[in-house]
Amino acid sequence: MPRPVAALLAIAVLAACASPGPDPQPAEELVLLDQGLTPEERAILHFTPQGTEIMPASWLASLRVGPTSETRLMDPAVLGRYRFITPAPDPVRNPDNFPLGFAVHAHKGPGGPPSGVRMVGFTCAACHTGQINHKGKAILIEGGSAMHDAVAFQRRMAEAMVLTAELGWKRERFLDEVMRREAWPGGREALAKSFDNAVERILVRKPLEDRLTVVPEGHGRLDALQRIANQLLGENLIRPDNEQVRDAPVSFPPVWDIWLFDWVQYNASVRQPMVRNVGEALGVRARTRFLDDAGHPIGPPTVWDTSVLVRDVDRIERTLHKLRPPPWPAEILGAVDPALAEQGRVAFASRCAACHGIQVIRGTGGAPEWHVPVIPLARIGTDPNAARGFAGRTYDASALGFRERIGGAEALRVVTERVKERAYDQLVPPASAEERAALDGFGRDNLVRAPCGYKARPLIGIWATAPFLHNGSVPSLHDMLSPDRPATFVVGDREFDPEKVGYRSDRLEFGTLFDTSMPGNSNQGHWFRDTRGPGVIGPALSDGERRAIIAYLKVATEETYPRRMVDRPGRAACEGEPGWASR
Ligand code: HEC
Ligand code: HEC
Repeated sequence: MPRPVAALLAIAVLAACASPGPDPQPAEELVLLDQGLTPEERAILHFTPQGTEIMPASWLASLRVGPTSETRLMDPAVLGRYRFITPAPDPVRNPDNFPLGFAVHAHKGPGGPPSGVRMVGFTCAACHTGQINHKGKAILIEGGSAMHDAVAFQRRMAEAMVLTAELGWKRERFLDEVMRREAWPGGREALAKSFDNAVERILVRKPLEDRLTVVPEGHGRLDALQRIANQLLGENLIRPDNEQVRDAPVSFPPVWDIWLFDWVQYNASVRQPMVRNVGEALGVRARTRFLDDAGHPIGPPTVWDTSVLVRDVDRIERTLHKLRPPPWPAEILGAVDPALAEQGRVAFASRCAACHGIQVIRGTGGAPEWHVPVIPLARIGTDPNAARGFAGRTYDASALGFRERIGGAEALRVVTERVKERAYDQLVPPASAEERAALDGFGRDNLVRAPCGYKARPLIGIWATAPFLHNGSVPSLHDMLSPDRPATFVVGDREFDPEKVGYRSDRLEFGTLFDTSMPGNSNQGHWFRDTRGPGVIGPALSDGERRAIIAYLKVATEETYPRRMVDRPGRAACEGEPGWASR
């Protein structure tokens, strides 16, 4: 089919110009901190696949960036621009030299390319590993917040595919190279057909993708919950009317200690680890096949088939139990005055611990559990979009057997439950009752809810996870605790500022502009001010208090951190109140 190649070329050239600046300091070598993991456990986190599929690994390795460029898309210099992390070479676990978190598995279905083709997809570490640079050193933060612009990268990848398909010589060379890397089942012809189909799907989806983007997710953020809903209930069900705008990008949260939390996600909406992970994997392009080739619903149980690798996901999850928050590397980022930190500990206990202290739930039996309180929007005053979108939006899932429109929480609960049970059934050997409970994670029930606020997490290790708040709208701890915050700043620069505790945010050439006036980007709320008003949660902090609390947050450990015992709370703030769900 003829396509406007000239227009595509123009887009590609523009995209290349608009791509983020070079990594200010590409790391030759990453400094590792003691986070409780052995080298083997780090490798499990970095490379264990979870069954998500971006495309065949041989395609990704063979793509070149531009219409005339010889540079590969997977060249570390190109990837550095998007702030992916280059791991130490590991020819056994990472033979393709992909960035950290790009994991490969052999395809089994449902749908997609022939069985056995090596597929690459994001595993947890792609979004949950950070890198901090300081004066020529680069520090890896296991379980920290990624800084990548995955959406810009995927756009670049899509353009590379379209250009490759359109330009005859490029296409031939690409097919030759893929064939050299992998004996494609069915031969070159079958490969060409598979590739053309993939390109066709990109072109068909592009206009919708553009319409759904209300605010750029940019570096370090994704509108994760809306993407999951759109993927499952829109794209996978071929119901474009179900796909809703992405106006609530959130910052990648750290994943140490999270297995202890009674509820996770910023809005404390999900309880069970496996459901959380299956939901995430489905949102990040694990395969499902809800419909047959003619677009008709498929009956149970095959309708719940998936490519999610539940035993591998469980392996990652259990490895996360060992992950400790990163210790402040004083030799690189500077010593912390112990007297100041001690003052900060005292101030933190009185000003912050009511919400951010560790709250150990009494009587949970074997598995320890920490209660993370939800503070209603009306009190915390931060951007409401993420919580509201999840609580208020509804979808037509009649093809999956739902009679009435359902909310995101209900859809996520039911779909992930069925998909995961089906995956357990299909394990070889099949999962026993005990293994099912273990895979679920402490036998926790699959509960999904949509509270009207955000959770206050314990803040050990938070120093390594800028920018702050669920939407990443505040560049540093200093700004978090000051009476005013910057209205715009740059995200994407990796150079760390140990005073303010955040990344440098003044060099536009190394990132993209974060504009707090855009939808979903509000930097209001969680204020310490002497006036009353929306989002004021305490009186103003003096300069000295602020400096002391920041010093404490650099060196806080579980041993010094405020901790108390609580009973298991009933329900989350304002949950179930009339009117909330439709707000
Ligand atoms: C494509 C990026 C991406 C991948 C891959 C990914 N996550 Fe996440 N994860 C996110 C984002 C974004 C959020 C925040 C979503 C929200 O709360 O609205 C999140 C939230 C979480 C949370 C909740 C944290 C909290 O503070 O409540 C946990 C736990 C988690 N992820 C674990 C995992 C695990 C385990 C995997 C792999 C099985 C994984 N994630 C894969 C992006 C990702
Ligand atoms: C009334 C409860 C409450 C108090 C008191 C409170 N916080 Fe928070 N805090 C929250 C909530 C809720 C969030 C999440 C808000 C959001 O993401 O929109 C949060 C988020 C944060 C974050 C950002 C975490 C992240 O994921 O980016 C930091 C840092 C923080 N608080 C520090 C403090 C410090 C320091 C104090 C004491 C000076 C304090 N907070 C007092 C409720 C509280």
